[in-house]
Amino acid sequence: MHPDVEKVLISRMEIDEKVHELGNILSRDYAGKELLMVGILKGAVVFMADLARAMNIDVRIDFMAVSSYGASSKSTGVVRILKDLDKSIENCHVLIVEDIVDTGLTLNYLLDILQARNPASVRICTLLDKPSRREVNVPVDYNGFAIPDKFVVGYGLDYNEKYRHLPEIYVLKKEIYQSVK
Ligand code: PRP
Ligand code: MN
Ligand code: MG
Repeated sequence: MHPDVEKVLISRMEIDEKVHELGNILSRDYAGKELLMVGILKGAVVFMADLARAMNIDVRIDFMAVSSYGASSKSTGVVRILKDLDKSIENCHVLIVEDIVDTGLTLNYLLDILQARNPASVRICTLLDKPSRREVNVPVDYNGFAIPDKFVVGYGLDYNEKYRHLPEIYVLKKEIYQSVK
């Protein structure tokens, strides 16, 4: 285990099982439809890669990168698009793929942006959900795990851009994120 982590919160096996369960449910729900999976960079990359391969139907994938507007971002929820989708989503079934929903502000804003483009549908799939941190209500259609309010890293999730490559989901040691730099 990485020296900066306290413990495994969700193991590789539990993640695999959940990803396949979600893949089966999504494949059934979107059978016969043109599905575009939209991963939100960068946290969703690892989950997206596994989830797309757990699908039993044809899908297309794309990515968006967003950044919060300055220091007030976490209260306003206004985000800036750093990388937009490559193509129009008009009449497409869009599934937003996220690693985690925390306050909900990022997704709330993204949902508005995408819905304004007249897609056939927009739904949200997240691997992790921290319901205790929610500030704005977002409709999470597919959720892997509800987790407590702990600082988690790995499987795409970072702290200061580190730990995304770790294979499981871990609780980060307190001294790592409390230390003064
Ligand atoms: C994290 C996470 C979600 C968002 C959730 O991304 O990946 O996208 O925050 O937070 P919210 O519900 O409070 O809006 P982050 O902004 O850290 O960027 P990253 O994906 O590149 O790590
Ligand atoms: Mn993110
Ligand atoms: Mg992050």
